[in-house]
Amino acid sequence: MRVFLSFVLFVASSVSAFVRPGPLGSVSKTKLNLAQDPKVVLITGSSQGLGKAMALDIAKHGHKIVVNFYPGCDEAAQETVEEIVAVGGDGIAIAADCTNFEQVEKMFDQAFDHYGTVDVVVNNAGITKDNLVPRMKPKDFAAVINVNLSGDFYVCKAFLNAAAKTDYKGGRIINIASVVGQIGNPGQANYAASKGGVIGFTKALAKEVAADNIKVNAICPGFIETPMTAKLTDEQLQKSVDAIPLHRLGQPEEVAAMVRFLAIDEGADYITGHCFDVDGGVGIAAS
Ligand SMILES: NC(=O)c1ccc[n+]([C@@H]2O[C@H](COP(=O)([O-])OP(=O)(O)OC[C@H]3O[C@@H](n4cnc5c(N)ncnc54)[C@H](O)[C@@H]3O)[C@@H](O)[C@H]2O)c1
Repeated sequence: MRVFLSFVLFVASSVSAFVRPGPLGSVSKTKLNLAQDPKVVLITGSSQGLGKAMALDIAKHGHKIVVNFYPGCDEAAQETVEEIVAVGGDGIAIAADCTNFEQVEKMFDQAFDHYGTVDVVVNNAGITKDNLVPRMKPKDFAAVINVNLSGDFYVCKAFLNAAAKTDYKGGRIINIASVVGQIGNPGQANYAASKGGVIGFTKALAKEVAADNIKVNAICPGFIETPMTAKLTDEQLQKSVDAIPLHRLGQPEEVAAMVRFLAIDEGADYITGHCFDVDGGVGIAAS
């Protein structure tokens, strides 16, 4: 039963309802407002927060979105696909736990089957389990590394293997790291280690796949208003805002705009192996 639920896949178009699960059927182009050369963009953990903002932003610009969601987040994923459709976009949602390589491989099989390709992968899924190091449970350290860093590895590996089976002409990978991976944050040693790891992983992979015309970059958001930061106390939030030169939290749409540039803009075609901070200046304030 668990395996069955793990691969629930939603398909939506401007006219069809969700197919849950079952044959995908054809996606009608009626009322779709696609770009001239629409790209297929898979975003992990995009049923809420930053991932959802990225999905809607890129969909609005006429591209096709694969909304990956953690098994069990079906309702939120369904809503995200409905919102993609409402802005004239085309999207499907596929459940997969990014720490489970078998599920990730199946997700790419489904995405390639449905759209014929995946042009862009955004590794957005992430978690926090904060505590000071002496009190941090080893399992909480491992869990954060597993989702935030190993998950990116599983997703990139499965993507590159799936692409290699096609006549792939190049693509883009964007890894969502964090400014905390550069400057650290007390209580977030596991998170900082995972995100610092993502930056190193991004640079190494960029060198590996440049010859295949695949660009790999990272984005380091600062403190952005999402369900993740909603867990902070008022005091923690105030401290964060005080440390930000622009003196406010960032909005998900501000990160999404940078993701869109790196994901689909022609202007980003000669950029690889770099890390871009969208952080209101918190990184420079710390140095
Ligand atoms: N919000 C911030 O201030 C901030 C700052 C820097 C970096 N980030 C990073 O941005 C990304 C998105 O964060 P957010 O703020 O939107 O958080 P969020 O908690 O709202 O979203 C995280 C998403 O990841 C999904 N997810 C978690 N584990 C998963 C797994 N194993 N497989 C598939 N999906 C999984 C969750 O279901 C959720 O949809 C994360 O990588 C986070 O570390 C966030």
